[in-house]
Amino acid sequence: MLVAPSILSADFGNLEKDVKEICEGGCDLVHVDVMDGHFVPNLTIGPPVVSAVAKAATKPLDVHLMVENNTFFVDLFAPYKPKYITFHIEEEKHPHRLVQHIRSLGISPGIVLNPHTPAEAVEYLLSDLDMVLLMSVNPGFGGQSFLPLVIEKTKRMKALIEKTGSKALIQVDGGVNNKNVKELEAAGCDIVVAGSYVFKQEDRKAAIDSLK
Ligand code: DX5
Ligand code: ZN
Repeated sequence: MLVAPSILSADFGNLEKDVKEICEGGCDLVHVDVMDGHFVPNLTIGPPVVSAVAKAATKPLDVHLMVENNTFFVDLFAPYKPKYITFHIEEEKHPHRLVQHIRSLGISPGIVLNPHTPAEAVEYLLSDLDMVLLMSVNPGFGGQSFLPLVIEKTKRMKALIEKTGSKALIQVDGGVNNKNVKELEAAGCDIVVAGSYVFKQEDRKAAIDSLK
């Protein structure tokens, strides 16, 4: 299981230290939650902070956009060279075009699905994606409870990925801990995002190891 700690739950007064600890602790990606106060009722970070995170990180960045104007934000964060940028299917009129745009910038494109959005919503995009992110909470805040519906949805997405011959990885985000990670793994999840679970523990390496 690959692990992407979400820095949303880090100590923003000591962000450099927290980013270094998760990287040294063996995380695979550094998950960066970008919220605009419109698509979700919360506001997080912009280019100055992402720039600081990129400098501190020794693992690739995974930028999760929760915003209204996706293309604007893709272009805003592309200079920091994230490995992945994912955007919400619910907020994009032309997802296929945006996927191509992200790839043209040398970044791996991914699409995020809110809890209510069926797996089939991205069926015809799968062959162009490197990642599909299934939300297991309503986007906007860390520390929420895991929605078990994502287990069935992960299985369904895995079947669609196999059917279409896609190479997309399945990522699950929200309320992940060392208990539900086992069910996620069995369902076909490749990467878990974990915010509060990782950052509430003093020993970040032990927290990451327990998810792996
Ligand atoms: C929610 C974010 C998540 C969240 C994860 O909108 O996308 O990445 O911060 O935090 P936990 O693991 O605490 O649910
Ligand atoms: Zn996220």
